[in-house]
Amino acid sequence: MSTLSQTEQWKSLNTLAEGLNGQHMRDWFEQDPQRAKRYSVKACGIFLDYSKNLINESVLDALFDLADKQNVSGKRDGMFAGEIINHTEKRAVLHTALRNFSGQPVYVDGQDVMPEVLATQDKIRDFVASIHSGDHKGATGKAIKHIVSIGIGGSFLGPKIMSEALKPYWHDGITVHYVANVDGCHITDVLAALDYEDTLVVMSSKSFTTQETLQNTLTAKAWFLEQGGSQSDIAKHFVAVSSNVKAAVEFGMDENNIFPMWDWVGGRYSLWSAIGLPIALTIGYDNYRAILQGAYEMDCHFKQAPMNENLPMLMALLGVWYTNFHAAQSHVLLPYYHYLRGFPAYVQQLDMESNGKRIANQADDIDYATGPVIWGSEGTNGQHSFHQLIHQGKVLIPADFMLPLNVPNKNDTHHSMLASNCFGQTQALMQGKTYDECYADLKDANIDNATRHSLAKHKTMPGNKPSNTLLFDRLDPKTLGALVALYEHKVFVQGAIWEVNSFDQWGVELGKVLGNQVLDKIVDSESNLDFDASTNQLISAFRNANSQ
Ligand code: F6P
Repeated sequence: MSTLSQTEQWKSLNTLAEGLNGQHMRDWFEQDPQRAKRYSVKACGIFLDYSKNLINESVLDALFDLADKQNVSGKRDGMFAGEIINHTEKRAVLHTALRNFSGQPVYVDGQDVMPEVLATQDKIRDFVASIHSGDHKGATGKAIKHIVSIGIGGSFLGPKIMSEALKPYWHDGITVHYVANVDGCHITDVLAALDYEDTLVVMSSKSFTTQETLQNTLTAKAWFLEQGGSQSDIAKHFVAVSSNVKAAVEFGMDENNIFPMWDWVGGRYSLWSAIGLPIALTIGYDNYRAILQGAYEMDCHFKQAPMNENLPMLMALLGVWYTNFHAAQSHVLLPYYHYLRGFPAYVQQLDMESNGKRIANQADDIDYATGPVIWGSEGTNGQHSFHQLIHQGKVLIPADFMLPLNVPNKNDTHHSMLASNCFGQTQALMQGKTYDECYADLKDANIDNATRHSLAKHKTMPGNKPSNTLLFDRLDPKTLGALVALYEHKVFVQGAIWEVNSFDQWGVELGKVLGNQVLDKIVDSESNLDFDASTNQLISAFRNANSQ
């Protein structure tokens, strides 16, 4: 059993959490005019106000002690140095090498990986230039206008949110379409609107074994041939990104059209590798480089800033504080920016696939909670649906609000309204509204006292609900790179504290194996069904419905 929960640091955090009972953030703000300033920090174009959290100096000190006890900075340095920290897969974890602008080598097994990284970046640069200039022509001589990016999980979510978030930076004349799910409705809908002559398919799969991606690519290839393309034209319209070049060639990809990646890049950390090719095709190579630059600056900040000014450390420790000492089971992300609407889904994979673990690094059992459920959506939409539960429900849900101060439609009153809603929500969560205030409000409501009392109770807002607010001058490529790296490092710090391997994902494997066994039974509709009674019943229902 991991001894983490028996440590002095853990026990003192428990005591501090109990000591906060009965205290209210509203009073802390009244008593301390410096609170907002004291608990705010800015780095890499991101301003974090974390003053609306259930913290004081003692709590922060105790959290920093816990980070020291768990050797977070030593583990961080080990990651950057290429140590085999993904020990169950025996791999280094070096997505940071993909955005290493230091000019310094990065070694894996004694070999500097930077020459390969830089050569791949050059290949991306040249390919993007040839598409954008029109030098690369489709089979019938037309320039490429549409990119269909096929991939799933980390080979999909990162590129998709980056392309979406950077809509104002899109290269004129290029449109990108992302397809992930094996549900044929999606690929069919996307392809139906396209012309094979000006379409480029980018197939992204680190392993080149993922069912969904292989099937969607086969469907795209069949569509290409049906539309009039020939086998020999495929090289002009299909490229792949993979660490499994052999499998990609066997699949039929032209070797020159394969952009490599490496085992030491985890799937959900791979958008910095050639998996980011669709991003570069959408926004141009210079903007793509700016994303990497922003992430590099966040890496430097993470390595160098003291804990009380270190954005990833602070956000991670606040998360640990709520998960382990306030029984919070989820964390909500609320981007107040339409183009950032996909960010919660991206962080969902990053965080939940990384830290949704139940065994500690030394194969010990764990008696404390690990990664929270990550969820959320763009503001203000959530205010008219799920915010009710955050405000008045019985569970504690820490929130991250995000807002760019400048947006493309800056002179529009919409942005002021968006900002006021964002700030108003953090304020309402923090201060709440007391029963007395609600009761007083009903003075002229013309209702009897029992009704007034009852209504005042229903309207009472407890407040004292924690939130971070992240502001960006504008969400340009560099700031977006820093933002994504910030969340990556937050997840790293939490994994280091919880003593889990944040870089494997064994939990997704069983479902894949069983899914394939079920597929065999569906395809061979005469085969004997020998699973559990429920699964057999479901397969039978499917067979019957599809028997004609
Ligand atoms: O099934 C989970 C997973 O392995 C993710 O970790 C990964 O991002 C995704 O599948 C896609 O994998 P690949 O890039 O190998 O197709």
